[in-house]
Amino acid sequence: MPRKCRKCQRPAVINMRQHKLALCADHFQEWVVNQTERFIKKYRMFTHDDRVLVAVSGGKDSLALWDVLLQLGYQVDGLYLGLGIDGGFGYSDESRAMCQAFAEKHPETTLHVLDIPTTYGESIPEMAARTRRGKGKPCSVCGLVKRHEMNRIAHDLGYHVLATGHNLDDEVAVLFQNTLNWQVGYLARQAPVLPESPGFARKVKPFCRFYERETATYAIVRGIDYVYDECPFAEGATTIYYKELLNRLEADKPGAKLHFYLAFLKARETLFAHWQEEHVELHPCENCGQPTSAPGLCTFCRLLPEEVRPRVRHAQPIMVKSML
Ligand code: AMP
Ligand code: FES
Ligand code: ZN
Ligand code: ZN
Repeated sequence: MPRKCRKCQRPAVINMRQHKLALCADHFQEWVVNQTERFIKKYRMFTHDDRVLVAVSGGKDSLALWDVLLQLGYQVDGLYLGLGIDGGFGYSDESRAMCQAFAEKHPETTLHVLDIPTTYGESIPEMAARTRRGKGKPCSVCGLVKRHEMNRIAHDLGYHVLATGHNLDDEVAVLFQNTLNWQVGYLARQAPVLPESPGFARKVKPFCRFYERETATYAIVRGIDYVYDECPFAEGATTIYYKELLNRLEADKPGAKLHFYLAFLKARETLFAHWQEEHVELHPCENCGQPTSAPGLCTFCRLLPEEVRPRVRHAQPIMVKSML
């Protein structure tokens, strides 16, 4: 029997078994927006005085996040990094088009776009192939480039908070992986907020308590167009395998993922209350200035061919709004 919205008795678009809560389209949107505001405040992510840059991939989570933050009236703009990934269907082109379409519908916000191949002369798969990092898969090079460029651009453009669209399923898969391997350092740093430090923006994940099906439903009821496909290189990734395992657990025990994550955050407060990061001295990278543990060049600058390196100092994203 189709369920009814708990608040208004109209047909429900989603039934969240872990909350024993079914809601119609309107009440579900309202719930997502209110819950996000609650998480932002609870974890002290940012305030209305902060300028927030949301990293948008063209997928449901990050575009939904951008949409919610705009509804909440935060000072938020988007950043899309073009990675030059084709996968036989123009993955990166389609992702960019989705981000651009969203920005065009929202004149109150700006999309910054930096295209990696145009800026540095190589796509992510080409960089990975040249440097032979990551056992034939570009994902580790991709992660490194994204982290460096997001942080650099946030800093250059004066945003002190960088938000990503990671959802509960993402966070729980990583938590599961870190726990299986008892990667204590990673566990200590896995949190909804990573505070700013010299040279690094504050990193926040306002959607970390929403299930993937909730962010997808939100994007659909809000009419946000997004890329359905995953990155073509994600296939076979360990985190996807863990996600499948965890989905089986969730099917048997609704709420298991949320419980695992929230119980971890609680335990984390005691376990890591006196945690000291292993003291590594950071130096500014000789080329880009971003803090790095190795003297000389940071890992990103080392990845680039020598003649390309000076570009890091001047590479500016383009503003999509100014092209309209
Ligand atoms: P992923 O690592 O692909 O699961 O993405 C996690 C988060 O990183 C997304 O929710 C976005 O916030 C951000 N992100 C991923 N890819 C990009 C991209 N190409 N440009 C900007 N942000 C991205
Ligand atoms: Fe970077 Fe898939 S998104 S390799
Ligand atoms: Zn309702
Ligand atoms: Zn550098």
